[in-house]
Amino acid sequence: MNAQEKKPIDWKNLGFDYTKTDFRFTARYSNGAWSKGELITDEVMHMHEGSPALHYAQQCFEGMKAQTAEDGRILLFRPKLNCERMRNTSRRLSMPEVPEELFLKGVKEAVRANSAWVPPFGSGASLYVRPLLIGIGENMGLRPAPEYEFRVIVSPVGPYYKSGGLSVISLAVSDFDRAAPHGTGDVKAGANYPGGLYATRKAQELGANEALYLDSAERRYIDEAGSANIIIFNKEKKLITPKSSAILPSITRRSLMTLASEEMGLETEDRPIELRKEVKSFVEVGACGTAAVLSPVGKIWFDEAWHSFYGNGEEVGPVMQELYDLLREIQSGEKADSRGWTVEV
Ligand SMILES: Cc1ncc(COP(=O)(O)O)c(C=O)c1O
Repeated sequence: MNAQEKKPIDWKNLGFDYTKTDFRFTARYSNGAWSKGELITDEVMHMHEGSPALHYAQQCFEGMKAQTAEDGRILLFRPKLNCERMRNTSRRLSMPEVPEELFLKGVKEAVRANSAWVPPFGSGASLYVRPLLIGIGENMGLRPAPEYEFRVIVSPVGPYYKSGGLSVISLAVSDFDRAAPHGTGDVKAGANYPGGLYATRKAQELGANEALYLDSAERRYIDEAGSANIIIFNKEKKLITPKSSAILPSITRRSLMTLASEEMGLETEDRPIELRKEVKSFVEVGACGTAAVLSPVGKIWFDEAWHSFYGNGEEVGPVMQELYDLLREIQSGEKADSRGWTVEV
């Protein structure tokens, strides 16, 4: 596709917002089987007022990005892992699993049909892809829905944090818990998120970009941020990341840990990280996820004080910078992808 066929959008100034695109993919599950799915134009969903998605949050979602490579190819990043995570979530919420073939078909068709909305190479923006699975149909009691809709919507987006690009953010430890150790924090249930809206607002009132959650059992160990996992480069020159049964297994974090170990030769560790005990050993901190990519965390608020890291909490450290560059270059096709992580649409 050449540039003239793209939508007339100010790609460089996009926020992380919904823009209505031309097509969405939809498939239905009823009587024990999935339909083959189709592209539609109507962005409004029609569903029964008794739908369990509305009453009991029997609903889950995924998030990934499509990017334009320099040669014009449109690339997805590790979409099979999103599918696997949605299937894990579905099992936990007693929803039918979307077969991998249908998931990938839905994602690819939605991106392809909206290719005029995929931001051009080098614009700094990307096409956010949001698959969702909801329980629909007539119901009142607390039981699984009689039918389900799998939908894939897409929207061109800019940076998640308003400051944009690779700029330093801050986090504030929340007085509220996100997820319980044996709850649903390790799956992508929509119900995990509305409680965080208030926690985020409280964090923002303190001047932070987002809330940081500690483990809810002891409130000692780092869990994750509102929509991103945490990675830390410490004084032992190791890249460490919290191990917790309550955090979302971030695809970005798993990829960054692999790159740190295989491309940068760093020792990596996935283990419980006790915030107050270890904070003095933190050299660089990062928040990572599809939306945030890798945002260096300059400072964290807890115990009534800011605790800052690299460059007085104002500069991007070299480890986060290198990790960010490596990931971004693979995702946009600038660096050879020896692991088969990118998938052409
Ligand atoms: C709570 C939470 N943690 C972490 C992530 C990052 O996960 P991923 O890298 O797979 O996007 C997300 C976003 O999906 C999230 O919502």
